[in-house]
Amino acid sequence: MNTPICDFVRTYADSKQLRFHMPGHKGSGALGIEHIDITEIEGADVLYRAEGIIKESEQNASALFGTALTKYSTEGSSLSIRAMLYLAMLYAKSIGREPRILAGRNAHHTFMTAAALLDLQVSWLYPEHWENLVSCEITPEYLERVLCSQTKPAAVYITSPDYLGNVADIAGLSAVCQKHEVLLLVDNAHGAYLNFLPKNRHPIALGADICCDSAHKTLPVLTGGGYLHISKHAPEMFRQNAEKALSLFASTSPSYLIMQSLDAANRYLADGYAEKLANYIPLIDELKQQLADFGYTLLGNEPLKITIAPKNLGYTGEELAGLLAKDRIVCEFADPDFVVFMLTPEISKDALDHLAHTLCTVPHKEAIDTKPPMPSKPEPICSIRDALFATSKEAAIQNSLGQTLASTRISCPPAIPIVVCGEKIDEDAIRCFEYYGVEMCQIIKE
Ligand SMILES: Cc1ncc(COP(=O)(O)O)c(C=O)c1O
Repeated sequence: MNTPICDFVRTYADSKQLRFHMPGHKGSGALGIEHIDITEIEGADVLYRAEGIIKESEQNASALFGTALTKYSTEGSSLSIRAMLYLAMLYAKSIGREPRILAGRNAHHTFMTAAALLDLQVSWLYPEHWENLVSCEITPEYLERVLCSQTKPAAVYITSPDYLGNVADIAGLSAVCQKHEVLLLVDNAHGAYLNFLPKNRHPIALGADICCDSAHKTLPVLTGGGYLHISKHAPEMFRQNAEKALSLFASTSPSYLIMQSLDAANRYLADGYAEKLANYIPLIDELKQQLADFGYTLLGNEPLKITIAPKNLGYTGEELAGLLAKDRIVCEFADPDFVVFMLTPEISKDALDHLAHTLCTVPHKEAIDTKPPMPSKPEPICSIRDALFATSKEAAIQNSLGQTLASTRISCPPAIPIVVCGEKIDEDAIRCFEYYGVEMCQIIKE
């Protein structure tokens, strides 16, 4: 597979032109990569009016992911999420449907900010069996019941995989959405690699209309590199308006370093990545088995993620992460209940063995039996947008009972809200805030 963006930039860098254009480093500097950091000069194409090398590279990505259109983001999934919600709203308007999204409650912070920007109405899909704030299992049967009980939303919005490595039944959910003629939008920030599994588990392959992938989270791509994927059965207007949707929210100075990284990833993915993944996953499965045999409780069904709930062995997630750090092991995420590891074939077998050895030599202690408190379903008082634009003040969590949250920044790690902006803070919410160490919040001024 060719790499038109990388080739163009290398040729330009080698030609030693005098750079009377941005960026200000003019091709040299402290990092040593400045010579390949360019801007939209003649021949370099324009990210959201792509007709040249960027279009060609994106077509390569589109072929790899089996989409009708794939667009690059140099601002992660955050940008793609805003764009896909805008597209869903545009579509709703075109067919006279209310601008309402039915969203899994574990939506990322970016969803809230997009809802504020776009003035979305949001109905939450709470899980039937709620075990923790990060996960929100929505089964097709449950979605079917919800869709039968209300007017049609513009779209259903699901986060899959979630941060703990749970992959939803996207095929089942998309069948329900199709039956009800409702679009399915998927936050697949954690699942770009699912496209390359022996049995494709990527949302686009399983029937989603549109999704975002943070290429940088699971593929060898620089931080910020992401995709907006549009499926072949999505409304035609998605394709027609994708660039407009992205450019509404994007910087006008996209990073060519990140674009080169996405471009180079196409070749990497086309050249035997699927085989590499197929050979690597059994090593992770083996490691998971070792951890289970040692006594750890494991969560999730995602092949490249390991999520441990270590309280039964006497450790909080943070304590276990602290022990690992002493052994040079840095996990992705730790909170009182969980430790999450993100793996890719870039991690050597030796490194996997080191992780297994460290985890399986910690002394067993008396089990910790505290469970994370669950929030109730907080009462919505106003829209996310109205709350964000309201006059607000800072308040200690203990003094905020009964108040309306005015900020999108209060979340349990990793960026999933305990209470959504515009909702009333109740006693359960306060317990959750305290559990996750949140001391202050913004509330709407009376
Ligand atoms: C589920 C989920 N969605 C979206 C995002 C935003 O992705 P990005 O950081 O690529 O903008 C994240 C980031 O962690 C995430 O976990």
